Amino acid sequence: MAKEKTLCLIKPDAVKANHIGEIIAILESQHFSILKMKLMKMNLNLAEKFYNVHKGKPFFDELVKFMTSGEIVALVLERENPIGKLREIVGNTDSNLAEDGTIRNKFGTDKGQNAIHASDAQETANYEISVIFGK
Ligand code: CMP
Repeated sequence: MAKEKTLCLIKPDAVKANHIGEIIAILESQHFSILKMKLMKMNLNLAEKFYNVHKGKPFFDELVKFMTSGEIVALVLERENPIGKLREIVGNTDSNLAEDGTIRNKFGTDKGQNAIHASDAQETANYEISVIFGK
């Protein structure tokens, strides 16, 4: 199976709580290689572009406000089946419903403050990587 790429964001709640290292250790233990990584703060324009697919949804303003509230860590990750595997170890969007042992179960609080973002499809991953890291 060929190696592919996905995008992961460690969100402001997890960065503020000093969980960057623990989350990266989990990713590396699951054989994700880090191809690119940066600590950064999203501005409003970037957050709106990144989450463009959710524009108009009731939670959009809250989501953008949260994602611009502090530093995040953006990572381009590579392995076989990266999207499926990452979403498996990230867990349910709502941290309260995330399965035991998943990243959101360990480090998230609720549906909004859920510690981590993972791309949901290859096309989305390609879009999100280009928004954060450029073409
Ligand atoms: P993420 O993987 O970053 O992708 C979109 C985000 O929208 C999702 O994680 C959640 O944090 C957020 N989200 C989805 N549904 C809701 C909701 N009902 N209320 C608040 N935030 C939500």
